[in-house]
Amino acid sequence: MAAKWLIFLGPPGSGKGTQAQRVCGKFELTQLSSGDVLRHERQIGSDIGNRVAAIMDSGQLVSDELITGVMLAAIDRLGRERGFILDGFPRTLPQAESLAGGLRERGMHLDAVVDLLLDDEEIIRRIEGRRVCVECGATYNVSFLPPKVEGVCDKCGRPSVIQRPDDRRDVVATRLATYRRQTVPLIEYYERQGCLHVVDASVPAAEVEERISRIIERAGSA
Ligand code: AP5
Repeated sequence: MAAKWLIFLGPPGSGKGTQAQRVCGKFELTQLSSGDVLRHERQIGSDIGNRVAAIMDSGQLVSDELITGVMLAAIDRLGRERGFILDGFPRTLPQAESLAGGLRERGMHLDAVVDLLLDDEEIIRRIEGRRVCVECGATYNVSFLPPKVEGVCDKCGRPSVIQRPDDRRDVVATRLATYRRQTVPLIEYYERQGCLHVVDASVPAAEVEERISRIIERAGSA
């Protein structure tokens, strides 16, 4: 199967990470999450991690230059044989343009951009209930998908399930405003390129997964 190269777009909490984790194995894809990469840098206390910590916790975006460099390096580490889902990147027009240039230079292209659609009320409900494992990245929700033992990850067994600092209600409001101002223009950008697929993310995760799977199956075969 030829490698497929995709982007998952959508507001904070719309399910980009959840869906990337669900479909990656099925389609031999690797999830490249910009948020996870930055959180890893913070966890290991790197220079990049120290530079981005306060920005992330306030709900703002880190610089285009920094995140583009980090994500293109991740793409290079993966190589051309393996497909990917970019989760959370790009998030601004300059990032999208740098990505397009970077892919061109590498003889690569985008097969599809999936935009997850969800209203603010549901976004806030999902984000406030979200818990994540800082060790393996597994995602839970206290309302409808709690870990079997509170605070302990079902997948890796470690007591590392926490609420992200940027999942507090006041920070979520800033993240939503940032998304509207800086990321929404990408929807039209990719629509003009004819590769945008909008998916209703308000239905149960299994249904969202089915719809995305159909898009991925067809992607790149036109
Ligand atoms: P990042 O980690 O990318 O955060 P985000 O885009 O705000 O996305 P989230 O991780 O919050 O949500 P998600 O869509 O993955 O939803 P999830 O699947 O977890 O970025 C964090 C920060 O890093 C940014 O604010 C910024 O500072 C920086 N950054 C990252 N990328 C950057 C970039 N490109 N440029 C500059 N700065 C950047 O789902 C949420 C919850 O809902 C979970 O509890 C889940 O279980 C639940 N759920 C999911 N699907 C369903 C469903 N269908 N039904 C019910 N519940 C569901």
